[in-house]
Amino acid sequence: MKKIEKHLYAPSLLSADFSCLDKAIARIHASGADWIHMDVMDGHFVPNITFGAKLVKDIRELTKLTLDVHLMISEPEKYIDEFIEAGADYLTFHLEAAVHSHRLIQRIRAAGAKPGISIVPSTPASHLQELLPYVDLILVMTVNPGFGGQEIIPECLRKVTFLQDEAERLGLSFLTSVDGGINRDTARMVREAGTNVLVSGSAFFTADDPREEVRYVRGDI
Ligand code: DX5
Ligand code: ZN
Repeated sequence: MKKIEKHLYAPSLLSADFSCLDKAIARIHASGADWIHMDVMDGHFVPNITFGAKLVKDIRELTKLTLDVHLMISEPEKYIDEFIEAGADYLTFHLEAAVHSHRLIQRIRAAGAKPGISIVPSTPASHLQELLPYVDLILVMTVNPGFGGQEIIPECLRKVTFLQDEAERLGLSFLTSVDGGINRDTARMVREAGTNVLVSGSAFFTADDPREEVRYVRGDI
């Protein structure tokens, strides 16, 4: 596996105080984080409900950072257009939630966003094989999706290494992202597995010094 030169840090808004999201965005800007991760949950694909495209649109007005929208919803094909219109840069859906993933990836790209695909902990990375040439991002979940603040399932990290090796073998340039349970204690093993992007929610929003948190988790210090 080739060495990743630069890791990206994506705070997950899920752990922010939704009554003052402008403050959360200010915290993210001040921290030097690279992207903003937004978790869309429908209470059907996952046992929790968060927000829809309206919030993505409103956050889009507040930031120029890359919006990394993670759809944890059933029937994602019904909703992708509104999230792209709202300003999602990366739009990621779950392999487990779609039958015609290949078509959906093409539709996301044609509509002007970067397509991403995600897998839950019980899905093998090999199930993504046929899609590897078509995606810009693969988001490997290291917790069962639905809630912030859970503990990482370290066995899932093997999938990241496998995917990076496949990218190298096939000459592909998709990014990998790891989502769930990332904090100062787990960041190193996540980076060493070969991920490009580290998503972090509860650790980011509880950190005393968000700037230091980002730099530490990204491996800058
Ligand atoms: C979980 C979400 C994650 C979550 C991560 O279903 O997809 O993005 O916000 O939160 P932490 O970092 O607290 O595990
Ligand atoms: Zn997420």
